[in-house]
Amino acid sequence: MKYLFMFSMLATTILSAAPYTKADRIHDMQEMAQAMNTIQSGFFYNNYDTVSGGVEHLLTAMKNVQPPLEEVEEKDFMARYMNNKIRMTNKVVKKINQKTLTILQRYKDGDSAQAIQAYTKILGQCMKCHRETRNW
Ligand code: HEC
Repeated sequence: MKYLFMFSMLATTILSAAPYTKADRIHDMQEMAQAMNTIQSGFFYNNYDTVSGGVEHLLTAMKNVQPPLEEVEEKDFMARYMNNKIRMTNKVVKKINQKTLTILQRYKDGDSAQAIQAYTKILGQCMKCHRETRNW
């Protein structure tokens, strides 16, 4: 009985984990683009709250970004390795997260040049992923 209960809990968890669709990704991408705009306008208007709001927004959107489901479910180790999308996604996401925090720190310290450099590096990471994944 106990096992049956646990099994049904498990099944519910698995079934309710909706797949990450192309539409989901496009939505997250649009959120991220908006967040980047907010950060940029925070720089232009020299407003810490705007910068930090944009950073929060970007971090939240980044959390959702995932590689395509086909790859997560790919059983063949070599195929996964060759595609490399999971690893690449995780790496790029981690880098963007780090640079986002750098923006806040530097900007808080009054070093806007460094904050902008971190912003540019994030842009570079967005484009890096796009170069390799536009046809996902
Ligand atoms: C993990 C890889 C990856 C990263 C990182 C990434 N993107 Fe994307 N992005 C994609 C893919 C894949 C598409 C194409 C979506 C599709 O058509 O399925 C896309 C599409 C987009 C689009 C077009 C969405 C639309 O309406 O069609 C925008 C805008 C965008 N990305 C912004 C960004 C911004 C801004 C960043 C950085 C903060 C970023 N992306 C980082 C993979 C990535």
